[in-house]
Amino acid sequence: MFNDIESKLNSISEGGSLDRETLAAILSTEDGASKNILYRYADKTRAAHMGDGITLRGIVEFSNVCAGTCVYCGLNRYNTKLKRYDLESERILASVAELAAHKIKTVVLQSGENHTFDGIWFGELISEIKDKFGIRITLSVGEKPYDVIKHWKDKGADRYLLKIETSNKNFYDYLHPGMSFENRLRTLKDLKELGYQVGSGIIVGLFGQTTKMLADDIIFLKENDFDMVAIGPFIPHVNTDCAGHRAGSAEMTLKTLALARVVTKNAHMPSTTALGVIDSETKIKALSSGANVIMVNFTPERVKDLYSIYDGKSAGSGKFSNYSMEKMAAGIKRHIDYSEGDSLKAPGVERVDTIVKR
Ligand code: 5AD
Repeated sequence: MFNDIESKLNSISEGGSLDRETLAAILSTEDGASKNILYRYADKTRAAHMGDGITLRGIVEFSNVCAGTCVYCGLNRYNTKLKRYDLESERILASVAELAAHKIKTVVLQSGENHTFDGIWFGELISEIKDKFGIRITLSVGEKPYDVIKHWKDKGADRYLLKIETSNKNFYDYLHPGMSFENRLRTLKDLKELGYQVGSGIIVGLFGQTTKMLADDIIFLKENDFDMVAIGPFIPHVNTDCAGHRAGSAEMTLKTLALARVVTKNAHMPSTTALGVIDSETKIKALSSGANVIMVNFTPERVKDLYSIYDGKSAGSGKFSNYSMEKMAAGIKRHIDYSEGDSLKAPGVERVDTIVKR
């Protein structure tokens, strides 16, 4: 049991030095009352820095072609059982039209990491989306060379998601054979330099991961001052080497998310789709423990099941309705924020820098 959780959180919140032992001890807390203090603290931090709005992002998974080797992911190149697809521009634009019609002002264009991918085609798509819909565009397409991500930025892309997955190099190498941790870091740096709003994040509950590693991850996310931070549980996929592994726990994911909120303060943080797969209540609980964003899936039905990062991913993701989303938000005394949901860290954006007082 970790008795002094509140004073530790106060010290972290006030900008005290972040030491991994303290963070790891908080994450190891099993005691119910202490966990509740953590969740409530994260909720107050979220309220102070982000307000009570829940921001929506519409995601279109436009291709599951992937050259990656991520051992935990069902899209990895060795999964020959998976039928691969690429959506055409017309189809992607139709999905964007659909999400825009639901007042959602960010589209996340996500795909596997496909090295044969046509960057010029994608650039044209980005400018077409910008011209037609005028909404924010977030890219989530993996590591790409500087010139390519610069081209997309010039064409109108606003944001980019690239999770570090784990900030521990050895663990990263074990999880991603043949991939390069340095290249990951380099890409994140390039993205920032180019003026993207950058999101990163981690997976919780991977085989061999410790609370100390998670503590280091939180420090990594803080030090890089990411605009967006995603923390989701590991979920096994039947056609991967991790098929028999246990899923990450909802509790550990919530604790990590909550602590990351206290530490990173004004990053946009989603209640991840993966959390909803473990347990739909936990997905709601995350919104009361630090999260302020929901990703809504607008991938066409015809291919949705093929974007199988982990088992059970598209279960329960029925047709989106503004009404039920608004009702869900009202149920936890929040509301849906239909604004663009830009970074609060972006230059020129006023910050709500209230210190959480208790
Ligand atoms: N469980 C949870 N998250 C996963 N991802 C990939 N595979 C899994 C899995 N088995 C996440 C990674 C990746 C994002 C697209 O999906 O964090 O960045």
